[in-house]
Amino acid sequence: MAEAWNTLLGILFLCCWSSTMGAKNYVLYKDATKPVEVRVKDLLGRMTLEEKIGQMVQIERANDWNELEECVLSGSLFSGGGSVPADRASPKQWIDMVNEFQKVHGHNNVYKATIFPHNVGLGVTRDPALVKKIGAATAAEVRATGIPYAFAPCIAVCRDPRWGRCYESYSEDHKIVQTMTEIIPGLQGDVPSKFKSGTPFVSGKDKVAACAKHYVGDGGTIKGINENNTIVTDNELYNIHMPAYLNSLDKGVATVMVSYSSINGVKMHGNRKLVTGFLKRKLKFRSFVISDWEGIDRITYPPHKNYSYSILKSVKAGVDMFMLPYNYTEFINGLTDLVNKNAIPMNRINYAVKRILRVKFAMGLFENPLADYSLIDKLGSQEHRELAREAVRKSLVLLKNGKSAKRPVLPLPKKAGKILVAGSHADNLGNQCGGWTIKWQGQEGNNLTIGTTILQGIQAAVDPSTKVVFNENPDTKYVKSQDFSHAIVVVGEPPYAETAGDNQNLTLPHPGPKTIKNVCGAVECVVVIVSGRPLVIGPYVPEVDALVAAWLPGSEGQGVADVLFGDYGFTGKLARTWFKRVDQLPMNVGDKHYDPLFPFGFGLETKPSN
Ligand SMILES: *[C@@H]1O[C@H](CO)[C@@H](O)[C@H](O)[C@H]1NC(C)=O
Ligand SMILES: *[C@@H]1O[C@H](CO)[C@@H](O)[C@H](O)[C@H]1NC(C)=O
Ligand SMILES: *[C@@H]1O[C@H](CO)[C@@H](O)[C@H](O)[C@H]1NC(C)=O
Ligand SMILES: *[C@@H]1O[C@H](CO)[C@@H](O)[C@H](O)[C@H]1NC(C)=O
Ligand SMILES: *[C@@H]1O[C@H](CO)[C@@H](O)[C@H](O)[C@H]1NC(C)=O
Repeated sequence: MAEAWNTLLGILFLCCWSSTMGAKNYVLYKDATKPVEVRVKDLLGRMTLEEKIGQMVQIERANDWNELEECVLSGSLFSGGGSVPADRASPKQWIDMVNEFQKVHGHNNVYKATIFPHNVGLGVTRDPALVKKIGAATAAEVRATGIPYAFAPCIAVCRDPRWGRCYESYSEDHKIVQTMTEIIPGLQGDVPSKFKSGTPFVSGKDKVAACAKHYVGDGGTIKGINENNTIVTDNELYNIHMPAYLNSLDKGVATVMVSYSSINGVKMHGNRKLVTGFLKRKLKFRSFVISDWEGIDRITYPPHKNYSYSILKSVKAGVDMFMLPYNYTEFINGLTDLVNKNAIPMNRINYAVKRILRVKFAMGLFENPLADYSLIDKLGSQEHRELAREAVRKSLVLLKNGKSAKRPVLPLPKKAGKILVAGSHADNLGNQCGGWTIKWQGQEGNNLTIGTTILQGIQAAVDPSTKVVFNENPDTKYVKSQDFSHAIVVVGEPPYAETAGDNQNLTLPHPGPKTIKNVCGAVECVVVIVSGRPLVIGPYVPEVDALVAAWLPGSEGQGVADVLFGDYGFTGKLARTWFKRVDQLPMNVGDKHYDPLFPFGFGLETKPSN
């Protein structure tokens, strides 16, 4: 998306200042004309173990910063705080700044950010150049809030729509996911022509460090159960789930996040073979690997819960930075202890910190650690909203158009007397934005953020002489009693994220089926499905006149009306198989038992009508 907004935002925790580092005389690592590797080596040589371990911790920004400061200070990380040079933001200033920013603009800022369609819709566009532009717009909006890091893109290859994160995946087809890694140069900037794959690359004050996730096989778990076990052959692992990581490394992705899930029973947060062996050694990824939120906590379970073991296992596996919303003190103490006991060699710590510093130097964080306030206008700008609207138009898939091909229903005429708009998703910004929007789980309703609902889009698109009547859930008698020329019914899934979105039945949620029945039995109707994945819609197809999959279009609902009323044609092609029944799942294009309702790649087209 807009993923960055639909995704956790992180800051790179800067805590590498000490009295030695604040010295006034020439310091090599501060010299931006020197190569990154030289600067990394110099700075690493000046750091204490505590400072190094401090680099490996990422703390969630919603933390109590006062408590955090105390904690970090008590670990004497900032013992030389007073000698921090004035020409650069100190860690304290940095924290104050982010904190202040939160207080002053905080929620408001993110509140009006542009919400692009979720990845499931972007895959439909088959338009990597558009997705690259979305990356650039997202980077500018993220940077505008003072954050130099986005936990995007999700390059999962979702093989089972029962997975609650399937909408974060561009496609079931790894080739589409691979092309969509173009979002990375959008977020980070274009790598130079002579570029060593696996090197972190972030260029420009309006760019952010990206994060390819979740390494690896997150989209292949049994029955789509979130964070569960992915049982795969080597062929499936390396030819379906892995390829997009190679593209990401070629594009200089700054970080890779490890998946909560397991591969053939081995938790990825403890999977040395795949993290160190494959990603770092074989693919030559030279940047840092970050854990997922409390990811290492899930390596061990009660009654065998052992945090020390979790730290040991994950550090040895190759995780370099740890996302620790709560347990940073335990982590810092635990890791220090393991190093002092020689259970983890000092070299492993040095390698981790080198990787982290490489990113910070590459980003110019030492030269420009402060937020660039000039970007603030980018947040939710008209230009970005137009881009999102274009993405919405291109992400729609027309599944049915008229009861016979000779009598298409779409595009709809703009002059149409009186039309009915119905359904739980017609006038509901929260529903059309889905999860990871403002809040983790998203939220139904229209007070979540700023945008245009599909209803508002329709109202703006029709001729002034056309009367648009909105009735969320009308009964048949009412519909019949009015002289509607036709109806648009917008139904679908409520917002959800992660495990809360896992669903083993994938039925169209209540009252969607009833709304369709009541309306479509009484007047010619176009049904628009707003959902994070294909749902069981076979039973309704015969009674609807036209059917559109809109996925989770985000804040610019006008894009839906643009196409329904023929300002633009339908062009989208399914990037997921539309199954008939859940007992067919998993079922992906190319499978032997392939028997879809609408196959991968399907999508009717219309021509613009004016
Ligand atoms: C997978 O899900 C099942 C059922 O919820 C659970 O018992 C099992 O522990 C999970 N496995 C993993 C690896 O998370
Ligand atoms: C916990 O893990 C550490 C590191 O592997 C190990 O040294 C320790 O014995 C474990 N503790 C228990 C109670 O199993
Ligand atoms: C980590 O933090 C969580 C939430 O505060 C707490 O429940 C858990 O016990 C902590 N784990 C350790 C190992 O301290
Ligand atoms: C926004 O809407 C939700 C759900 O309708 C409601 O719980 C919440 O109080 C509303 N917030 C504001 C600020 O109106
Ligand atoms: C389908 O599964 C979801 C998620 O588990 C659940 O909330 C819903 O009630 C189920 N619907 C039906 C019709 O069983």
